[in-house]
Amino acid sequence: GRVAVLMGGCSAEREVSLKSGAAVLAALREAGTDAFGLDLGADALAQLQVEPFDRAFIALHGRGGEDGTIQGLLEWMQVPYTGSGVMSSALGMDKLRCKQIWQSLGLPTPNFMLLKAPFDAQSVVDQLGLPLMVKPVHEGSSVGMSKVTSVEALAEAYERACAFDGLIMAEQWVTGHEFTVSLLGEQVLPVIGLETPHHFYDYDAKYITDDTRYLLPCGLSDEAETDIGTLSVAAFNAIGCSGWGRVDLMQDQAGRFWLLEVNTSPGMTDHSLVPQAAAHAGISLAELVVSIAEKAQC
Ligand code: DAL
Ligand code: MG
Repeated sequence: GRVAVLMGGCSAEREVSLKSGAAVLAALREAGTDAFGLDLGADALAQLQVEPFDRAFIALHGRGGEDGTIQGLLEWMQVPYTGSGVMSSALGMDKLRCKQIWQSLGLPTPNFMLLKAPFDAQSVVDQLGLPLMVKPVHEGSSVGMSKVTSVEALAEAYERACAFDGLIMAEQWVTGHEFTVSLLGEQVLPVIGLETPHHFYDYDAKYITDDTRYLLPCGLSDEAETDIGTLSVAAFNAIGCSGWGRVDLMQDQAGRFWLLEVNTSPGMTDHSLVPQAAAHAGISLAELVVSIAEKAQC
């Protein structure tokens, strides 16, 4: 049937989503699928009713697209959609609640706390150490995130994050290496290691500059790659995710893995990680999007 590729939206990741959507649309068409793109705006409800479609490929990122709200709308319309359902999308978008669930299940995730002004910067640093990360709870693509290296810098990082979200968290910094694990249904795709000359794998490193090194193969031993895959699947399942997604992690200097977050609608731009992982597994972009679309449900 006809596939609507939902893209754009109103979140801080709108530009990324337009690129993801264009890539997904082209790949679906390449695979011979009848597909059209829909740049969703504030009147999404009306837009979804203009042209009939049989399933939705969600290429939206961030709030309104990855947080369960559009998923809820599609449930009401009884149209199958790609990726996770309402609850798991909402939890995936909420770094704080997601980490609380992982922690309660004994899954390793760096220590964290909710920041709420007025707070005592010294006591935050006493609890989490330095450096630490300040993150808007509901953003993606590292939007609004800062690495904080001094007690004095915490307030400013908090203010910066507040421009994007009403809920801000601080998270312990893990010194080591960053990895990302792409999941396609039950399949764990090849792990990618990330090396950036920036302080962390921030928005610029993700989309603007070309100086990120993607390690594929990731450099882990076979045993460690199996472990990180198993942990990622456990993290994905813990919040009820399905279809496809991507789990971001750190490995500390002792070799332990730490869960950072899960992305229920990962980027699909030409810089993006899931398409790279799939390609390494011999899965073309066209095959990847068809496989994701076939798993759509409601
Ligand atoms: N939030 C971006 C799109 C990603 O995780 O790929
Ligand atoms: Mg994310």
